[in-house]
Amino acid sequence: MTDNRTSAPVALRDTFGRNFPYLRLSVTDVCNFRCQYCLPNGYQCASKPSFLSTEEIRRVVDAFAAMGVHKIRLTGGEPTVRKDFTEIARLVSSHPKIAKTAFTTNGYRLRDHAREWRDAGLSAINVSVDSLRADRFHRITGHDRFSEVLEGVEAALDAGFRDVKVNVVLLRGVNDDELPDYLDWARRTPISIRFIELMQTGENLEYFRTYHASADTIKAPLEKAGWTRATRCVDAGPAQVYTHPDYAGTIGLIAPYSKDFCAGCNRLRVTSTGDLRLCLFGEQGIALRHLLQEDEQQPLLRALIQDQLAYKCSSHFLALGNTGITPHLASVGG
Ligand code: 5AD
Ligand code: SF4
Repeated sequence: MTDNRTSAPVALRDTFGRNFPYLRLSVTDVCNFRCQYCLPNGYQCASKPSFLSTEEIRRVVDAFAAMGVHKIRLTGGEPTVRKDFTEIARLVSSHPKIAKTAFTTNGYRLRDHAREWRDAGLSAINVSVDSLRADRFHRITGHDRFSEVLEGVEAALDAGFRDVKVNVVLLRGVNDDELPDYLDWARRTPISIRFIELMQTGENLEYFRTYHASADTIKAPLEKAGWTRATRCVDAGPAQVYTHPDYAGTIGLIAPYSKDFCAGCNRLRVTSTGDLRLCLFGEQGIALRHLLQEDEQQPLLRALIQDQLAYKCSSHFLALGNTGITPHLASVGG
């Protein structure tokens, strides 16, 4: 075994035998939407935050890539509010060890920028579309931008994104009657529509109690309509994926409250201010930023990351009402 303080470290692995080929890197906490379950009052800026610079981002990527990460997702907040987003996309996706660069977006700039971002090297995209009815979309997100976002998804497909995912947070009494409409969309379109169970965060307890619905409510009608569970591939996300021979798209269920959800965890997170987060709902952030200032600090940075992995827990313990230090997902990159 090599000494990871002085030479190339071994691949990231935690005490539960899980590997981490996948990093979610937040580039900003700012978001222009006001999703009811996330930032109902919009993004509030306490003091002027200073998000990672492109140089610091490059050093994060260098360190994790040297430790075996080969997929990076750019996230936020809304990552595309950054003026240098295209530059960041190019920088990350051109790294020789990064095979796949994805991003998550609310889609508000997608219609006009899909091609530019594809050309910058991004190949996979997750867009949030919480309702297929314009009025509901408006109510949930605080923005009357339903048709723009839908055109954005089309633009992403036209621009050659091969992996287009649509995220739908399942909300009881709000959008849980829309499965037939989403299925209709998936019949014609090669997208992966994923229904995500609403998660409790530090600031949305009331909302969570009122609107949380189990993904099981979708599972039964799905199976009845002839959809079957596909097998999971190694670096796949946490979704249970369903396919149907008559449909161009697939359906995924993301059920963080289900047993064993965390067993397949293959991701680490770095926040927009350079904290390593071992879990979406972890109790602490580990500051990396002081080691992102010089290229010469890379061995120290890698050693710190490696040491901290020992503290990654087996599970998020969400079912016990634990939300860690996560006020809302915009603060830690969904
Ligand atoms: N529960 C579930 N999903 C959430 N998202 C944001 N907040 C929550 C929450 N509390 C979703 C967004 C986006 C993805 C990154 O995470 O809608 O699709
Ligand atoms: Fe913004 Fe995403 Fe949060 Fe909605 S869920 S407010 S789009 S960060």
